[in-house]
Amino acid sequence: NKKVIASAPGKVTLFGEHAVVYGYPALVVSIDKRIYAIAEKRNDDVIKINARDLRVPGIVISYIGNEVVLETDYGLILPAIAYINKAIEVTSKYIGTKAGVNIEIRSEMPVGAGLGTSAAVAVSTIAAYAYVNEYELKKEEIANLGWQVEKEVQGIASPMDTSITAIGGFLKIKYIDKTVERTPIEVKEEIPLLIGYVERESRTKDMVAMVRKKIESYPEIYMKIMELIGNTVEKAESALLNNNLHELGSFMNLNHSLLDALGVSTRRLNELVYVARDAGAYGSKLTGAGGGGCVIALTPENQDVIETAMKLHGTLTFRTKLGTDGVKIE
Ligand code: PMV
Repeated sequence: NKKVIASAPGKVTLFGEHAVVYGYPALVVSIDKRIYAIAEKRNDDVIKINARDLRVPGIVISYIGNEVVLETDYGLILPAIAYINKAIEVTSKYIGTKAGVNIEIRSEMPVGAGLGTSAAVAVSTIAAYAYVNEYELKKEEIANLGWQVEKEVQGIASPMDTSITAIGGFLKIKYIDKTVERTPIEVKEEIPLLIGYVERESRTKDMVAMVRKKIESYPEIYMKIMELIGNTVEKAESALLNNNLHELGSFMNLNHSLLDALGVSTRRLNELVYVARDAGAYGSKLTGAGGGGCVIALTPENQDVIETAMKLHGTLTFRTKLGTDGVKIE
């Protein structure tokens, strides 16, 4: 039977996390690590999922339109499976087919590090399932279906991850309620970035809830911080467009300080941020929800030295190219 491979990139948030929840813009960018979804059409309505790269043991069997995954080796419904299963369900409804599929997921990224793996899994699965059934969906359509998948699986979800993994490149994102504005930013030069990962101590949901509590208690202080993050994003966008990397770096530092003021950084994240700066990064900040997770460092020079310093500090690091293609059929 016909086989189709779709892939979608991971992402980092360059500027504006948390403030984006309050209607301010954020800048997000795709990275050169991808998720691959390999789909093979079946002659029945069975969904067979193999996602060993996402630490899912064995093969999972489900049926189109079923909420519940019926069989796994461990009898568990693992989070990664929920995204794949829901992505097929949502797409099958959208394109009006109930064709079964064998689907295999491959990953070049660590899962759950805040690099947008779940969105990339959802989006690559949607594209592969649609394409194997002879539907070529537009990137915007895939982004919206992906957002729907994340919302249905998680309860609430930001449209940032599904937007960037579907569209790729650099995006300025703004969302209020159900509407999302996605504005591509044309960045001509290469932006060299290092990513360092420290273990998560808290979940995104809890970090967002903690920030909301602070805003409710002291809106006159915390909404000011949000506004300052919003201003920083606008200035950072200009620095990005002008390829002024020194300025871009100092806005990263400023954005990090404001996130620290919100209370979402940790000692380990702060240490890593300063290790990178001391070793020569133009700027560094936590990326994503905080409470552990990833740090990004802008490293147009001394990348080896900075990477070694970050490694010596005991973190997993990797280099990445920014602004790679969004979802595509390979
Ligand atoms: O940790 P991540 O990559 O899932 O990013 C969360 C981003 C927040 O702005 C903190 C939350 C959101 O809904 O946008």
